[in-house]
Amino acid sequence: MNQNELKQAVARAAKDYVATHLPAGAILGVGTGSTANCFIDEVAALRERIGGWVASSEATRQRLESHGLRVLDLNEVVARGLSMPIYVDGADEIDAGLSMIKGGGGALMREKIVAAVAETFVCICDQSKRVETLGGFPLPIEVIPMAREHVRRELIRLTGGEPRLREGFITDNGNEILDVHGLAISAPVALEARLEQITGIVCNGLFARRGADVLLLAGSQGVKTCT
Ligand code: 5RP
Repeated sequence: MNQNELKQAVARAAKDYVATHLPAGAILGVGTGSTANCFIDEVAALRERIGGWVASSEATRQRLESHGLRVLDLNEVVARGLSMPIYVDGADEIDAGLSMIKGGGGALMREKIVAAVAETFVCICDQSKRVETLGGFPLPIEVIPMAREHVRRELIRLTGGEPRLREGFITDNGNEILDVHGLAISAPVALEARLEQITGIVCNGLFARRGADVLLLAGSQGVKTCT
């Protein structure tokens, strides 16, 4: 199977996971990216039993709406005391402890917010994303534009990596992204916490403190469930 077929396979597995585990009428959180798009196209078939949809980006909101699905405001969901039992999203890298690098598509901040509200994070990936050590994929850092050079300097000091501006890209929140190249992240939880302390960083793409709870991993032998 090629990578696109693996994405389709894991998207179907995630739809089955939602059909089995999401209580009828409950709210589903939906991630961003090409794997998440495959998932949206599959899971739309469950529209009758899903109470509402929360999007982690404008692109995902538009794709959900193109299927005629009702996208809810996250503040309204939380303020009304509603639960979001499941959030399904892809990743750029994932390790054995289910820590991830995310943000290749630039939606890291909203993804982290939706993941924080959800009870269970289901990560959907093809096998190319599974790594021993995070950092082969450049770590995305969303920055306030006026802080970019300050943050760049702090990132070099802290990580020894090489931050590169994602040219011509502005996030849904109006910010820029520095992608940090050349990392080998041995302690993702500690690095995530340290990055959160740098003034000017809006969000870092390490999802370690709140990693995935379930990984659906598509490979040539089929889709494996890892917890
Ligand atoms: C977007 C993300 C995506 O989940 C990540 O980039 C994976 O995308 P894809 O499924 O296209 O490989 O974090 O911000």
